[in-house]
Amino acid sequence: MSSLFLIFLLCITMATAAQLRSGFYSETCPEAESVVRQVMKNALIREPRSVASVMRFQFHDCFVNGCDASLLLDDTATMLGEKDALSNINSLRSFEVIDEAKEALERVCPGVVSCADIIIIAARDAVALTGGPFWEVRLGRLDSLSAKQEDSNEIMPSPRSNASSLIDLFHNYNLSVKDLVALSGSHSIGQARCFSVMFRLYNQSGTGQPDPAIEPKYREKLDRLCPSNVDQNVTGDLDATPRIFDNQYFKDLVAGRGFLNSDQTLFTFTKTRKFVELFSKDQSEFFKAFVTGMLKMGDLQRDQPGEIRRNCRAINGRHMNRLWESGRERIVI
Ligand code: HEM
Repeated sequence: MSSLFLIFLLCITMATAAQLRSGFYSETCPEAESVVRQVMKNALIREPRSVASVMRFQFHDCFVNGCDASLLLDDTATMLGEKDALSNINSLRSFEVIDEAKEALERVCPGVVSCADIIIIAARDAVALTGGPFWEVRLGRLDSLSAKQEDSNEIMPSPRSNASSLIDLFHNYNLSVKDLVALSGSHSIGQARCFSVMFRLYNQSGTGQPDPAIEPKYREKLDRLCPSNVDQNVTGDLDATPRIFDNQYFKDLVAGRGFLNSDQTLFTFTKTRKFVELFSKDQSEFFKAFVTGMLKMGDLQRDQPGEIRRNCRAINGRHMNRLWESGRERIVI
């Protein structure tokens, strides 16, 4: 990562609690959280995986210029959005669930609830609805006026990442080693494509060999799922209980049954291993650390103008744009 880019990352700071707060919509849209919750419940029934897919949005939105729903913007004639960035293309899915929540909210309290906040509420609900912890979310974000595909390309980690580079990346956001391991526990739900694991099975680090960290029986299973000539969009489960948010993911890592290289590396690397072991033995420790991590990640913001989008896929028309140039001030620490 270039040093210029590191400086840029450092411009993303933790917002102070005074700006984002729980109960932010209690006067202006008291139904906000229950409306999103209902949409997430319906999504879960319709397609269980979709809630995991939506939960992933928080990571891919917040790491790229803060939690501002820049991720949700479609391309325009003059702007390449983040949806087609390297880590997102053919991978991020279930954007329609956020659209549904936004449409429902616009009916109840038009122009009030930001898309950035919808992502945060929906991610929390995805976890709670699949058996994980519930927490009070801090709200009051604004939606960005643009998106930056090249920033997403530069920032978002590859499934090939090792623990050491992940530690460095998370450190840039004030997220600790424990936060990294706990947040990776989000892979307790959902799926990944063969595309994200093929190199581990057939050519780990250019050796022409599989990753020796994969437990042999699990490797046979992955070989069957993803033979070398497979359609790389075929998907496999990220842990043994992909519809339940629990600590099975960490038990799997201890057993050498992590799907992604970036997962298994958390057990092979000494600095992260102790947290994998802790969370594999104590689910409540995992839940506590996960909530801490999600709150910290949800506080990432850049000092930039924003608005409440009417449609999460596009910025508002200039004529109806409610722009806060620096109206709701951000205190940058
Ligand atoms: C630590 C670095 C991380 C890396 C390298 C990483 C990478 C990946 C990759 C490669 C996939 C599968 C993509 C595909 O094959 O299409 C995936 C899926 C997923 N990721 Fe991560 N991830 C990381 C952290 C996180 C975090 C912090 C969260 C949320 C808090 C998250 C939530 C998810 C979820 C829920 C899925 C499954 C989505 C679905 O089923 O559609 N990930 N991740």
